[in-house]
Amino acid sequence: MEETNILSVSGLSKSYQSGDDTISVLNNISFSLTKGESAALVGPSGSGKTTLLSLCAGLERPNAGSVVVCGRRLDILAEDALARFRSACVGFVFQTFQLVPTLTALENVMLPLELRGENNAANRAGELLERVGLAKRRTHYPSQLSGGEQQRIAIARAHINHPAVLFADEPTGNLDSGNARLIEELLFELQQSFQTALLIATHNEHLAQRAGRLFRIDNGLLNEQRVNN
Ligand SMILES: Nc1ncnc2c1ncn2[C@@H]1O[C@H](COP(=O)(O)OP(=O)(O)OP(=O)(O)O)[C@@H](O)[C@H]1O
Ligand SMILES: [Mg+2]
Repeated sequence: MEETNILSVSGLSKSYQSGDDTISVLNNISFSLTKGESAALVGPSGSGKTTLLSLCAGLERPNAGSVVVCGRRLDILAEDALARFRSACVGFVFQTFQLVPTLTALENVMLPLELRGENNAANRAGELLERVGLAKRRTHYPSQLSGGEQQRIAIARAHINHPAVLFADEPTGNLDSGNARLIEELLFELQQSFQTALLIATHNEHLAQRAGRLFRIDNGLLNEQRVNN
């Protein structure tokens, strides 16, 4: 049932040009996620996990195939329309947190809404800081926060636009095992609470097993390893 798909990828291929060589990274990949569904994406380093997430989020464009998010085909949207669409429907969490160092925790969480000129950003950001357990840190700058705390801020920021789909690229990669577990709990708690579709690229076996579905990417091909546990 196509209409229940939040993310639908079909025949996706991506290659990079390196001098005279063409490096084929993804080869004819198809899959979809429905509302509130979670999936992990695993595979060796360099297999194309970040590339696939970037294509799905409209941060990069494929050489072939289509990416449909909430009924919109991203691969053919013009750059400005794509940016607007991303800011309205898509969330992204990075391995390296990517907070703005000159903004406080609260301001970082507010930023996506502020950029859209929306009112009420501070209230919603405050609520999300509470959800991630960092309400007391609202006036702290990223340099005053631990890595785990910075990632919790980044997760709050990624939810401020109520994304239909959230992409997380190795969200626990820079954290110790205790903080990794906290981030894992938070990602799935918010995914269930907000019914966000969630796609996580990870080398963290525990995190991968927690997701509802498991995809493995190898040699440019995507295989589903486990369906809906
Ligand atoms: N902009 C680019 N130009 C050229 N090659 C690229 C570019 N981006 C990625 N690649 C190549 O594409 C392949 C896949 O990279 P990607 O970052 O998607 O892998 P990954 O699975 O995320 O790896 P890791 O687990 O280490 O994060 C690699 O061979 C990489 O060198
Ligand atoms: Mg990567």
